[in-house]
Amino acid sequence: METSPSELPQWHALEEWRRSFASRTLASLLKVDSNRQPRWSFSAASIHADLSRNWIDENTFAALMALARARDLEKMRDALLGGEAVNTTEHRAAWHSALRTPPHDPSLARTLHEEQTLFLGFAEALRTGRILGSTGAPIDTVVCIGIGGSDLGPRLVTEALGSPTGPVRVRFVSNIDPVELATALEGARPEATVIAAISKTFTTLETLENLRVARNWLNADAQPLDPAHHLAAVTAHPDRAAKIGIHPKRIFVFPDWVGGRYSLWSACGLPIAIAHGHEAFLQLCAGAAEMDTHFATAALESNLPVILGMLGVWYVNFWNIRARAVFPYAQRLRSLPPYLQQLEMESLGKRVDADGRPLAIDTGPVVWGEVGTTAQHSVFQFMHQGTHWSPADFVVVAQHAASDERRCRLLHASALAQADAMASGDSVLGAERSTAAHAIAPGGRPSNIISLPALDARSVGALLALYEQRTFVQSVIWNINAFDQWGVEVGKKLLQQRLDRERF
Ligand code: F6P
Repeated sequence: METSPSELPQWHALEEWRRSFASRTLASLLKVDSNRQPRWSFSAASIHADLSRNWIDENTFAALMALARARDLEKMRDALLGGEAVNTTEHRAAWHSALRTPPHDPSLARTLHEEQTLFLGFAEALRTGRILGSTGAPIDTVVCIGIGGSDLGPRLVTEALGSPTGPVRVRFVSNIDPVELATALEGARPEATVIAAISKTFTTLETLENLRVARNWLNADAQPLDPAHHLAAVTAHPDRAAKIGIHPKRIFVFPDWVGGRYSLWSACGLPIAIAHGHEAFLQLCAGAAEMDTHFATAALESNLPVILGMLGVWYVNFWNIRARAVFPYAQRLRSLPPYLQQLEMESLGKRVDADGRPLAIDTGPVVWGEVGTTAQHSVFQFMHQGTHWSPADFVVVAQHAASDERRCRLLHASALAQADAMASGDSVLGAERSTAAHAIAPGGRPSNIISLPALDARSVGALLALYEQRTFVQSVIWNINAFDQWGVEVGKKLLQQRLDRERF
């Protein structure tokens, strides 16, 4: 059994360093050191991160790295990337990185390649009109039904890459509220539609229920359509999909050791490939692989996922901060907050350690957010003057695809202005500063500026792998399993019991 992290001397050292900030302000840290921005900026793959608006100095940083080493972070990272069974309660690997960098084992590499070729081939056939419905009509709409990791990641990336480059419309349905499926089916013609059910387990109630209704819609006409032409599935349990009548050639599989919230790199990425093409999907994986290589090889002191993860620990455990916000300053990244909510809250919302003992320390914070600039006119009052605070990630894009240069510059400047206001408060306003109590913004609220060169597949891949690995880093420090989600089971079982009682 491992010692609790809070009993380590490195933990106590950090408690001391935390106290040393009591008499300082973030504004003064930023003002005094003109070298602060270059010193606390880091690059990895295509991502650049300016971390200068954090409560860090050399001593704290060294202490955070010492804690990472004391927790054997490098060994745990190697175990994760080497495909060891790091998901201890489910006795399996969490080897999503193998989907982006082929593993050494040639037979496994071949299998993964074959699985990828199959779903990318299907996507390409749809895009080039080689897939026809059972009446001979070309398919123009694919409705993807999934929930959680089988929806959020594919949906985020499909939106992030902009307008589809092919002729097929891709729509997503996750909610069991009938409105979402009805909206997705609006304007679609059954004879020109494929319903793709994406579910790792193929037992998820919402997905199966929406699939049932969508099948009825396919068959609403007097002449039913052949399901072999209009249904597809992505799953780790192909037998279950086959059992409900999906043609084996339209079932795309992925290994059981890919967790749901880490599955967009597998056949679950089918919607991305349909909307944007197989090359975009491969670039996405290449960007993520670049981030994995950085995570695997860079020294901890320049390792971006490690540094971001350690800052997460710093605020949760030493500043008692229970929330972290993410504000993507790009409309196409509007689904980043819900995606990160699942990634981080399902992975880090844990109350026992890897040995099953109740934790004596806090773990994952509430993750929340909204797209900027919209968020500035809703939640930023809290960010600047709330009685408790939430560190934030401002995700910005250097080169927007939109041709309106002026609005893109405005977008970028807005993110930086908000980050400065959070850090320094109104102290830097000069003559415009108001002394009225209600107008004072105290500052001292940390944030990260995370920049992508462009919203292209490679950069998006690197960004999402960065967030995945940062999540893992925190789990190692806290000694929790980032890859299970037993808490969700309680609600699922109670729902089933209730439905059974009601003879649903
Ligand atoms: O209930 C939680 C969960 O298991 C998530 O972890 C998962 O992403 C989601 O449900 C959907 O699961 P599946 O892909 O098996 O339908």
